[in-house]
Amino acid sequence: MPPIPKIVGEYKLGELIIEGKTKQVYDLPSLPGHCILLNKDRITAGDGVKAHDLAGKAAISNQTNGKVFGILNAAGIRTAFVKIASENAFISTKCQMIPIEWVTRRLATGSFLKRNVGVPEGYRFAPPKHETFFKDDANHDPQWSDEQIVSAGFVFNGVKIGQTEIDIMRDMSIVVFEVLEKAWATRNCALIDMKIEFGVQENGDIVVADVIDSDSWRLWPSGDKRLMKDKQVYRNLTTVAEADLETIKNNFIWISDQLDQIVARSNHLVVILMGSPSDKDHCAKIAKNLTDLGVNVQTRISSAHKGTQDTLKILRRYESEFDKLVFIAVAGRSNGLGPVLSGNTTYPVINCPPVKSDNVNMDIWSSLNVPSGLGCSTVIYPEAAALQAAQIIGLSDFMVWSKLRVKLLSNLNSLRFADKAFNA
Ligand SMILES: Nc1ncnc2c1ncn2[C@@H]1O[C@H](COP(=O)(O)OP(=O)(O)O)[C@@H](O)[C@H]1O
Ligand SMILES: [Mg+2]
Repeated sequence: MPPIPKIVGEYKLGELIIEGKTKQVYDLPSLPGHCILLNKDRITAGDGVKAHDLAGKAAISNQTNGKVFGILNAAGIRTAFVKIASENAFISTKCQMIPIEWVTRRLATGSFLKRNVGVPEGYRFAPPKHETFFKDDANHDPQWSDEQIVSAGFVFNGVKIGQTEIDIMRDMSIVVFEVLEKAWATRNCALIDMKIEFGVQENGDIVVADVIDSDSWRLWPSGDKRLMKDKQVYRNLTTVAEADLETIKNNFIWISDQLDQIVARSNHLVVILMGSPSDKDHCAKIAKNLTDLGVNVQTRISSAHKGTQDTLKILRRYESEFDKLVFIAVAGRSNGLGPVLSGNTTYPVINCPPVKSDNVNMDIWSSLNVPSGLGCSTVIYPEAAALQAAQIIGLSDFMVWSKLRVKLLSNLNSLRFADKAFNA
């Protein structure tokens, strides 16, 4: 008789692929290219030398990891995380893991101080500092240079890890850090440093894999080291009493609860106003770009020339409902709309006239040569209008900022891949 398969949530587990200090990874025959990761009720430090059972830890870590990867996936970062499968388990794409820890730091602390004698604790890295370590418990995860990683000649799922791949992973690590730093800042918590791992999926894509939970970072509420809520509390203990484990568990629960507050959306709006319904295609392009960036949009039709009272009524209504508000004015021929809005509101106004090549030289001046006292800007491409509005919203909305940040990285990485393919 074949062995009865283990079941987790609604999934039948396949072979055990690998087991580490805190997780087991099982194949998932019902979802090709995927695996299921089971967290253990286990906390470890010092390359596994210090280790304790901690009832409930698997469930808390699983929650935390799911929320963190939820943020990263929403921001558009390529990750292996798919979804939570049960209290203790989640589904990921199946990867061959790159045995490197990618560490990003905002403030100097911990091992950095030992390796960089003379640097005081709390030294602020701007931009963040990035370091790589080879995953090798027996040799205490030695720091590796790019040259060492290239020379290792790693090939995973057919992908050779060369300098281009390292550059891409380094930049992705920094973006992951910056996104989570901004997210935690909304809870007045300082993300001090963190480590992530990458894997190569069966389709050859390099993605953020493994887990990100309270074991992965240092997190100081109010930027105060004494208030730390992460695994460092455990690392610092010389003896571990039952009460200490309880404190650590409560800290981890606190972190998971805080993450629930972070996912809340902000009260912002971008209003696209068009002077005539004939501009609707141009407006639809702006709206699509904004929606892709996670920005809330409303499109209205109103002519400042022909319906001045209505235009101002619309303006006053949105001013009273949103405190993070941007207007985009779309008007052909003479653009009265944008300048009228701009002369009557404290909120940013972006002109995006739907100019055509035969009349651009005449019409553009109505958007550019505006009376004194007005501060509207003018762009001609729908994407540019959307990006500018999103950048303004992103000043106070970490998710919009994050999507913009990831977009920059995707643009850069596309060029890197294109360059590599061109020279292959
Ligand atoms: N998406 C994935 N696909 C395949 N293996 C993974 C994935 N995510 C993590 N792993 C691997 O799962 C193993 C178990 O994790 P863990 O217990 O944290 O191990 P370790 O003690 O080596 O850190 C690790 O070897 C890790 O690289
Ligand atoms: Mg691990």
